[in-house]
Amino acid sequence: MAHIQVDPNPAMSETVDAPAPFRPAVDVARDPTIVPRPDGREATMALLYLSRQTDGEEWRALLTAELPGLDFRTPGEAGDPAEIDAALVWLHPLEELAGYPNLKLVASLGAGVDHVIVARRAIPDGVTVTRIVDPAMTEQMTEWCLMAMLNHLRGWDAYRELHRERRYEERRAPLPRDVTVGIAGLGEMGGHCARVLSAMGYRVCGWSRGPKRREGVACFHGMDRFADFLAPCDVVICLLPLTPETEDLFNAERFARMKPGCFVINAARGRHIVEEDLIAAIDSGRIAGATLDVQRAEPMSGDHPFWYHPRIVTFPHVAAFTVPRTCAPQIAENYRRMRAGEPLMNVVDLERGY
Ligand SMILES: NC(=O)c1ccc[n+]([C@@H]2O[C@H](COP(=O)([O-])OP(=O)(O)OC[C@H]3O[C@@H](n4cnc5c(N)ncnc54)[C@H](OP(=O)(O)O)[C@@H]3O)[C@@H](O)[C@H]2O)c1
Repeated sequence: MAHIQVDPNPAMSETVDAPAPFRPAVDVARDPTIVPRPDGREATMALLYLSRQTDGEEWRALLTAELPGLDFRTPGEAGDPAEIDAALVWLHPLEELAGYPNLKLVASLGAGVDHVIVARRAIPDGVTVTRIVDPAMTEQMTEWCLMAMLNHLRGWDAYRELHRERRYEERRAPLPRDVTVGIAGLGEMGGHCARVLSAMGYRVCGWSRGPKRREGVACFHGMDRFADFLAPCDVVICLLPLTPETEDLFNAERFARMKPGCFVINAARGRHIVEEDLIAAIDSGRIAGATLDVQRAEPMSGDHPFWYHPRIVTFPHVAAFTVPRTCAPQIAENYRRMRAGEPLMNVVDLERGY
């Protein structure tokens, strides 16, 4: 574990009867690892890594390189809860955050924060929640959505089958200009995807919560325009955050109003889609098929019908990874800003839920 160097100062030793007057001994704006406590003692404050996915060693190496002397701790090293002022979190039970009285920052290691929002009550008031906004992640997402869409439009699976059967047959694909792609969610991910698809010549519509203007994109907003947004789409790509408003958004009623033969792509969260309704809509022929990076329960159980459906392809939540190398600078900068009392980047609106 990395420990910081604190100048020994006898006046601040444990044996002093009366606490010394509050006096910042270091410039906290410049030294992000030492904070003065109200009792006059200097304390090492630490950043705690809470992720079910990795042991954190890569983050430790990258963040201590950005912030020399940073006290980076994993759960086994947590020590005194009063010394934790920030938590890096990903898919970890967050109820324990309530036990860190000096917590100021919870940084999600993903773009989505639904895993933090569900544990909101455990997060003490006044704690800022941030998320990842990273072009390297956004580019991966656009690439994955493009792959899923082109696979459908260009008949990749059908050609694969023909290849296996050694049949040399043509299948006509629609021209990009004749394909309408609807992107639900026009934020970091959806906005980028819309720009790229529009530049490639597709007709692009987008749907967001508030009004938007995007060149080359027909923009709709608000729940009362959702059906209008969906109606012309040959392909719908979901890039929404999971909130109470967007949960179960794609259900039997919505599928019934979509253009016959529409193809569904979900790269956001599984709970946007009512899975049995999607299967029924595909079986009825209304929806052509679906490519789903995310599912309601991940990993899916062995008997989940998606595994067996000929027109559904699932991926194991891999559309866009958080890349520690490209994300460490923004985490480090936010930690520095938090210590310096400066406004943070990529702050989540807890009321809005994203
Ligand atoms: N599968 C993966 O590997 C992966 C990786 C990263 C992220 N994700 C998912 O992708 C999601 C989107 O990420 P992002 O960074 O693009 O999020 P973002 O920047 O916060 O954008 C969210 C977009 O959704 C819109 N929206 C939110 N609630 C809405 C509502 N009730 N009605 C209509 N539109 C609504 C927002 O509208 P406004 O613009 O009007 O606010 C915004 O345009 C994440 O939340 C996460 O769940 C998945």
